[in-house]
Parts: sequence; structure tokens; C-alpha cells
Amino acid sequence: MCGIVAYIGHRQAKPILLEGLKRLEYRGYDSAGLAMLIDGKLKIGRTVGRVSMLEERLEQLGGFDGTLGLCHTRWATHGGVTELNAHPHRDDRHGLVVVHNGIIENYAALKTYLTERGHTFTSDTDTEVISMLISELYEGDLEKAVQAALREVTGAYAIAVICEKEPDTLVVARKGSPLLVGIGNGEYIVASDAAAIISHTGQAFMLDDYNVVKITRAGFRTSDIHNTPVTPKVTQLEIDLEQIELGGYPHFMLKEIFEQPKALRACCSGRMDIRDGRVVLGGVSTYAKELTRARRVILTAQGTALHAAMIGRYLLEDVAKVPTQTEYASEFRYRNPVIEEGTVVIAVSQSGETADTLAALKEAKERGALALGVINVVGSSIARETDAGVYLRVGPEIGVASTKAFTGQVAALSLLGLFMARRRLMSADACAEMLREFEALPAKIERILEQAPHVKRVTERYIDRENWLFLGRGYNYPTALEGALKLKEISYIHAEGMPAAEMKHGPIALINEGMPAVFIANKGRQYEKVMSNIAEVRSRGGHVIAVATEGDEHIKKYVQDVLYIPDVPEPLSPILAVIPLQLMAYYAAVARGHDVDKPRNLAKSVTVE
Ligand code: G6P
Repeated sequence: MCGIVAYIGHRQAKPILLEGLKRLEYRGYDSAGLAMLIDGKLKIGRTVGRVSMLEERLEQLGGFDGTLGLCHTRWATHGGVTELNAHPHRDDRHGLVVVHNGIIENYAALKTYLTERGHTFTSDTDTEVISMLISELYEGDLEKAVQAALREVTGAYAIAVICEKEPDTLVVARKGSPLLVGIGNGEYIVASDAAAIISHTGQAFMLDDYNVVKITRAGFRTSDIHNTPVTPKVTQLEIDLEQIELGGYPHFMLKEIFEQPKALRACCSGRMDIRDGRVVLGGVSTYAKELTRARRVILTAQGTALHAAMIGRYLLEDVAKVPTQTEYASEFRYRNPVIEEGTVVIAVSQSGETADTLAALKEAKERGALALGVINVVGSSIARETDAGVYLRVGPEIGVASTKAFTGQVAALSLLGLFMARRRLMSADACAEMLREFEALPAKIERILEQAPHVKRVTERYIDRENWLFLGRGYNYPTALEGALKLKEISYIHAEGMPAAEMKHGPIALINEGMPAVFIANKGRQYEKVMSNIAEVRSRGGHVIAVATEGDEHIKKYVQDVLYIPDVPEPLSPILAVIPLQLMAYYAAVARGHDVDKPRNLAKSVTVE
């Protein structure tokens, strides 16, 4: 949700800034802008649209030669998508500019105050308030002015600031929205995400909340907003370039779908002790006792991560026999939830930055829950807020529509479920059996991926239909929700997912001749019941596409199309059943000519509530 890149050093800044910004486009892409300090003067280019359009605009304007600059790709919150609202935002006194990711909650009060002090605003954004406030408080020291301004601000921010009066200085700060400083050889690259840094340096540190960093070409100083010095923890970034490049695929989403066997192997590596029939989760082992005695688990998340959590719930109740509920983090955080003794709250998140999920976790923690995370991005805000957790290890996910993170979340939650189950009631033999099945999953996903051309042909048959249903039961009810969400997100087709039995209670009225209904109809406890639901749709003219278990020839008589998945124990079946649904959404979006990796209105990391 908005991406920031800033550079100070000895090289030309523009290509570094634009390359970084392109890597951050998944965070938002409705408008973009860049500012540089050239011979002590600010030069700014902004535009509505993608980073490629900014690149063109800068070419037209010319003269962006310099070694200090910052840039921004926007996902609009305050103010429409216009050039005036695009970042950077300039003050009206000292020649300073700000780029910002986050939301300033008291911006209206600050704007009134600053207007009374004679400042003139040109945009509708909350960000412009920060630039004016820094300007108002500027007394010849940019670092101090930023600290003073941020003491007045409530809300979330990652900011970068440069000023004509201090042509060798870049000041950056963070509260709530991520920001990293990459340390190169006599140069520094600041960005919202390591993806914009990694091609230049592997050394970096993440700002903590309320940290302010003043960077010059000679070095940097980290403090908090009260100017107390802070020692940053410089670490080696764990991603490599190959993980964030397309590598021959037309889209990141397709690459990430095909990466799932590898991602799953990485997620499970070293965590399965099949010989002794136990799961090894170093991240939560300190809390093994609390997990063994847990009276309730609350899984909280948003979007795709919530669907993964819902599958986790089925497994935790079914296999580990612990009462479990799932909660939209956005609702949970404001609901005055009851947290009894022995409650474990688990935040599930790919980015580890989702504002609502972070707030829900904090709320639960304050109320005495043990706070765990099932997170992909190492060192992210949610990961740092937890007592312990399980990292997904699926590598960076760039496509806005989540795929490999979903299967990674389900796998990590399943491992956690088995970890608890084994301590609570499960025999070593039963656990070993499940782990053997787990081990076989990547090869089974590979088999499904081999059928991608068939999934494509089936999808294209229905491409002109505007309304779809996704139906499943038990473990695969959340899979149905995820299938519908994927289709909506990238192909803009209206799709509803629901428990197959719920269809009769209203949605059945929607079914007309030729309406596609995707059923997850793998062999399992409720197979016969799903078959009855299929018959209900067929008898009303609906076209059924079934995800079925290999070898189930019988189903062919009852449906129009079948997408087969290998046989697998029911608790692990969503990891396979979702793969054809991801492919369907992908091929539908491509056939409709949409930008798969940058769907309209969406952002990958939702750092505002
Ligand atoms: C956004 C993304 C979704 C994602 C959700 C939660 O809506 O577009 O793909 O599932 O946020 O994100 P998280 O990073 O917490 O998993």
C-alpha cells in the first residue's frame, strides 16, 4: 500500500529509484512521482498511472541528473487519483518534499492549524500535512524538524524527506508502515521492501516504530522522535534476485503458482521427523506447554490469509481437538472480544504488515492471549509483535493475488496443528502417516500443474459468463471461498463462494442456463452430499466444473468438466484442490486481457485499516 524508494550516494539516482519503484509496484500503482535535488534545487515529476508512465514523464521533462532523490508509487487513501495528489508533496517555504506510506489520523486538525499559520495546500492528501508541518517547524535542521513534526502526528507512516537547504541529507522515519535502509558502499537505499534494495546491497536494517534516520553520504544516525540515539540491527537480507524476477514467466502470479511444489518443500524442510512421528517447529517450541494445554485457538487474518485460517480451523478441531474460531481481524479488533485463560491467538499474514491483523493481534495480546504468527515476511511488523511463530518460507510473493502464500499458510497451520495434536492426543504412528502424506504433496502439485493446458481450455469455455459459483464442504468450503476470491480479484468476474449446502438457502435462485458452478468434489466424508448438490445445480441448467479425485470416472456422468487432483487425506486436500482454481482465475484474467499482477483497485499489502 504505497511504495517508497530513496537514494543518497555517488551514483545517478534516477535509474536506481525507478528500478526500485518498479519492484514495489505491487504495493499500489494508481500514480507515481519522483523528486531529486540537483545543484541544491528540487526537481519533481509526477503522474497519474504506472511507474512506466512516470518514466516517460521524467524523459519528457529531462534533466533528472543527480545523486540524491526519492520516489513513490501510490495507492490512494485521502484524495482521488490525480496528479496533484500524487507524491512527493512539497512544502511552501523551505523547498522540502515528502513521500509517505500510511495514514495520518489527525490530519484534519493539523491542516486547520497549518492553514491558520498561513500555509497553502494544493492537494487533498494527508501527506501534504506532514510536509507543511515539517516546514512550519524547520529551524535549519531537517532531522530535528522531522522529529518535532512526528511528535505531533498520530497514525501510521513511513516517510522520506529531502530539502533544498540541506543538499547532502536524506531523513527517513517509520511508525506502523515498513521501511528499510540498505547500506551500500558509500551509498544508501531506503525502501518499503527489500525487493527494491537487494540488487544493490544485502546489508540492511529495518526501522523500528518511531525511529528517525538522518542519512548523509558520510554515514547515518538513528534516533527516535525525541532524539534519543538508537542502535539499529544491521542484518543480511535473505532474499535473492532470482526470487523477485519473472524468470521467463509472463506474470508473477503464474510463476508463483508454479513455484508451489518448491515453496511447500521449503516450508516443510527440517520440520518433519517422520521416523519419530513428530513435527519440529523451532519457532514455537518454547511455548510447547502452552500449546499443549491451550483451551482455545483464535485465528485472525484478512483476505486470502483468512481462508487459509479457516482451513486451519478445521484441522485444529478435527485433528488436534482444540476449540478453534476464525475472525476477520478488522472485526475482532473492535469487537471487545472475550479472551479466556488458555487462549492462543494466531495472526496469519503473508506480508506481516496488514494493519487490521496487526491491531487484532495487539488487542488479543493486551487481553492476555499468547500471540503467535504464521507469517511469510521475516522481521515484518506482525512477526515482531508476536511471542513466537512459524514462518512460511515460501519466498517473496509479488503477484497481488496470493497463491503460494496461501498454500504455505495452510501447510504451516497444518504443521502447527499436527505439532499440537501429537502433544495432545495423536499417536506417533498416526502423525508419521500424515507427515508421509505431507511429504508427497509437492510431487502431487506438480502432477496438477502438468494439467494447466486442460484447465486453460476449460476456463476459456466459460469466459463470457459474468456470474460464477464456487461450492465445497468441510475442509474445502474455505477452498471454495478462495476460488471465488481469486476469480473476482484478477478477472473482475462476479463470483460467490459458499458451503455447498448453503446454496439451497437463497443463492440457488441465481442459477440459470449455463451458469458456471465450480464444485470441489474430491473423495471425502461428504462426497455423496456434494454429489447431491451437483445434481441440484444441474437440474436447474447450471454448468458444473468439478475438482475431483483422480480415478473418479463416475463423476464425469454428472458434470460438464472435470479437473482432477491426486488422492490425499482430507485435511490436506485444500492444498491440492486450490491449485486448479488458481489456474482458472489466472487463465480467465489473461483471456479477458487484464493486468494479472496489478489488478484494478487492489494492493498487495494493506497497511491501512
Ligand atoms: C490484501 C491482498 C490479499 C491478502 C490480504 C491479506 O487484500 O490483496 O491477497 O490476502 O491483503 O494480506 P496478508 O499480507 O496479511 O496475508
